[in-house]
Amino acid sequence: MSEMRFQRIASLKTVEAFQNYAAKLGIHLPIDTKLEAGASSPLSKKAVWKHHPIGNRWCILPMEGWDGLEDGRPSDLTHRRWVRFGQSGAKLIWGGEAVAVRHEGRANPNQLWIREETKADFAALREGLVRAHKERFGRDDDLLVGLQLTHSGRFCRPNRKDRMEPKILYHHPILDSRFGIPREYPVLNDDEVRDLVSDFVTAARLASECGYSFVDIKHCHGYLGHEFLSAVDRPGPYGGTLENRTRFLREVVEGIRSTVRGLDLVVRLSAFDMIPFRKTETGRGVPETINGEYRHAFGCDPHEPIHPALNEAEKFLELLRDLDIDLFCITAGSPYYVPHIQRPALFPPSDGYSPPEDPLVGVARQLEVTARLKRKFPDLLLVGSGYTYLQEYLPHVAQAAVREAWTDFVGLGRMVLAYHDLPADVLENRPLKSSQLCRTFSDCTTAPRNGLVSGCFPFDPLYQDLPAAAELKAIKNRIRDAAR
Ligand SMILES: Cc1cc2nc3c(=O)[nH]c(=O)nc-3n(C[C@H](O)[C@H](O)[C@H](O)COP(=O)(O)O)c2cc1C
Ligand code: SF4
Repeated sequence: MSEMRFQRIASLKTVEAFQNYAAKLGIHLPIDTKLEAGASSPLSKKAVWKHHPIGNRWCILPMEGWDGLEDGRPSDLTHRRWVRFGQSGAKLIWGGEAVAVRHEGRANPNQLWIREETKADFAALREGLVRAHKERFGRDDDLLVGLQLTHSGRFCRPNRKDRMEPKILYHHPILDSRFGIPREYPVLNDDEVRDLVSDFVTAARLASECGYSFVDIKHCHGYLGHEFLSAVDRPGPYGGTLENRTRFLREVVEGIRSTVRGLDLVVRLSAFDMIPFRKTETGRGVPETINGEYRHAFGCDPHEPIHPALNEAEKFLELLRDLDIDLFCITAGSPYYVPHIQRPALFPPSDGYSPPEDPLVGVARQLEVTARLKRKFPDLLLVGSGYTYLQEYLPHVAQAAVREAWTDFVGLGRMVLAYHDLPADVLENRPLKSSQLCRTFSDCTTAPRNGLVSGCFPFDPLYQDLPAAAELKAIKNRIRDAAR
């Protein structure tokens, strides 16, 4: 198996061994050899954003579980996940999970969908998280909770898990054929885009009425907001220049500001991207080839489309700073066509490919990009992503990253599905429970790709006991046999 080329993090028995391995890979990561305890730890430092106190530097990244009810309400599994986010110890909850602003924009028939009829459930979801946090940590006045709003654009599957019903902004030279979109497939017209603006504004008002302190107008991972940013060929007011490509976002911001009082706004941004990768016969991922420049990735060098280019991401941040948006979550690419840059993993999901690089290189790339943006915009607050693959050394890198101002907050995704209160253990100076560390098996991505709920099947006992666990095992066996 090609993943065996890479040394497993668990086999690096000391921080020094981890540092040496990073050096051998030629990557630069901030790494503290000694973890600081209590109030002196950079990770315990309080922050203030606008008028909101935030009690420490851990952030829970949004993660959906493909487990909402068909009418858009959260299920018991959803409530449990949010309660665990509350118990994590992190004081910033970046949106909980992607919540659709309209039915056709759902990424799957079980994606949450906020509307008048589901409002009470969204209030309860937040309250459950806050209550669980207060019960465990004694206070909630320094906990900040927002909601991530989304339309899944090219990756909509609102009615059936196995049927894509894309809403596209332009015809993409690679993704159209990869996902079976014919040439004559309609592109969302400008009036339809304006309708979506008003959906976001309505959803934001509802989120505010449910008690969320902010909404994230999602601009990442290949979904609609992100697709606007690469709509260089789209004619009219929403494509072409960066000004036009950000018009949708600016209209959403204006609409929310003019109708919803007291709600703050943030953006999760795929700050860089790459040309889509494909799986070769050996299972390894390689970049697609294309004649000439590749211009359809935001934050990518068109001549060498596997290298980040941050000029447009920088302009994007400037533009949003002018709109008084000053808190961003930095992420990368898309889980559909470049999963290795977005959620570095040793074991690929069923629709992925074996990692084309040591996953640690992918971690370093996300950290480095966030650090470059932080250096350029010291006045903005940034949340970094992609730390989970660090495993045993996550706290050492997280502490150094905040101490050395590579980021303001350390965002955790998969790690909290596996080990939900790792931040609390670090903050309270307890040793990590190595048996709970996410080992990047990608089951939480493989399961939903095959129509099942998502969660940490290897390490979360609740998921181990679900019927979905047996189904997932059978699916993985079939995939393994087919690859032989
Ligand atoms: C099961 C799963 C669901 C996710 N759902 C979302 C989502 O709803 N919104 C979002 O912005 N990112 C989503 N992500 C991406 C994560 O927020 C995060 O960026 C990614 O997992 C990398 O961080 P990590 O290395 O800590 O896992 C999801 C990731 C996973 C594994
Ligand atoms: S299923 Fe669990 S161990 Fe595997 S990547 Fe997801 S969180 Fe990590």
